Amino acid sequence: MDRIRIVGGRQLNGAIPISGAKNATLPLMIAGLLTDQTLTLENVPRLADVGLLQRILGNHGVDIMVPGKRPGDTEHDSQTLQISATHIVDTTAPYELVSKMRASFWVVAPLLARMGEAKVSLPGGCAIGTRPVDLLIMAMEKLGAEIEIEAGYVIARAKKGLRGGEIVFPKVTVGGTHTALMAAVLANGTTVIENAAREPEVTDVADCLNKMGAKISGAGTSRIVIDGVAKLNGARHSVLPDRIETGTYAMAVAMTGGDVMLEGARPELLQSALDTIAQTGAEVTSNNHGIRIKRNGGGIAPVEVTTEPFPGFPTDLQAQLMALMTRAKGTSHITETIFENRFMHVQELARLGARIELDGETATIKGVDKLKGAPVMATDLRASVSLVIAALAAEGETMVNRVYHLDRGFERLESKLARCGAAIERVSG
Ligand code: EPU
Repeated sequence: MDRIRIVGGRQLNGAIPISGAKNATLPLMIAGLLTDQTLTLENVPRLADVGLLQRILGNHGVDIMVPGKRPGDTEHDSQTLQISATHIVDTTAPYELVSKMRASFWVVAPLLARMGEAKVSLPGGCAIGTRPVDLLIMAMEKLGAEIEIEAGYVIARAKKGLRGGEIVFPKVTVGGTHTALMAAVLANGTTVIENAAREPEVTDVADCLNKMGAKISGAGTSRIVIDGVAKLNGARHSVLPDRIETGTYAMAVAMTGGDVMLEGARPELLQSALDTIAQTGAEVTSNNHGIRIKRNGGGIAPVEVTTEPFPGFPTDLQAQLMALMTRAKGTSHITETIFENRFMHVQELARLGARIELDGETATIKGVDKLKGAPVMATDLRASVSLVIAALAAEGETMVNRVYHLDRGFERLESKLARCGAAIERVSG
């Protein structure tokens, strides 16, 4: 298994190209199941999760073509996927595949909408919490699906097709909103989703579905209205930039000091996180090319932050902010309200010398002058990258184990950081 070796203490200076968003790419690929024509996705990041979803969709009969490199392409160019679900040959998504990536459960909605049936394994728990799918099931039932749970599988049927309905989510759910959207676009009649997730990735998926011929309005607000259509066509869509990758590198620069342009990043996708980063003492500016983060001299100021659904501070940047706060001049508090168990990084940050106390959903972080390198590992993607941020500022060498978590969600992390002066390398084997 690969590891990443980091020797801390260097500033970051230069430019980092921001990739397409993982959490938009996955549902966009799944949306390809809704049409028998080709959906072309551009700006797709090269990530392990994308490769895994390619395999899962392949099992349903979807062909995915990846055109080769063109003259002038660099290693930092994204890929384009041509997704063709001309014939769906299998409406079952087995446990062996779904258990490797939770988002693959979302195939249930387009399979049900297009084929009238789907059998998809329940995803099970994961390192950040129990993560049930009751609200996804509720959404499909509201559109007329009959759902049974048998031997660990959700079996959804709508032999006469889905019909429009009203879906009121009792709590904001990104996956629930994706599911409701993908079921409703081919339903007979109008669907209204109340308390919909407003995350930019939901808006990106809705934009793509509209290009495919869907009639969706209100995406990006908490009330989405969908007029069902009989059929969707192919389309071409470019994935929006990854706001979590953007925020992660922004925090890395706030941690090490330096001056980095995050190319292609869009501030409106993470305004609340950028406001927090500015409060810590870094200078945040933006222009048409991206977002620039600068911190030269001066300490890191402590902050009080609570994670919330968009447009609040994202749970997917909570671990990274905690890493930054380990070196703040004072005490900070971070409260996690989205996932009940998303503090797996606390013990590992402590191995680097961080002082963090947990009380229920709130972490109290007492800033220290120095972190010291150590071997560490983490059990999920965002926790792993928080260790990278801490290691970049720690004295001496840190070895981050279980790098496959990073490969699931960060495209060429070590080369992007190394280009800006970090002493970071992948150790194979
Ligand atoms: N929830 C329920 N019932 C449901 C669905 C969700 O109780 O049926 C709860 C969850 O347990 C959680 C809350 O609702 O407490 C919000 O969960 P949500 O459904 O919004 O999360 P998700 O769709 O499973 C996506 C991202 C996560 C991100 C969350 C929150 C993707 C592929 N995943 O997950 O990203 O943390 O939204 O913004 O889009 C990551 O990229 O590292 C990651 C975990």
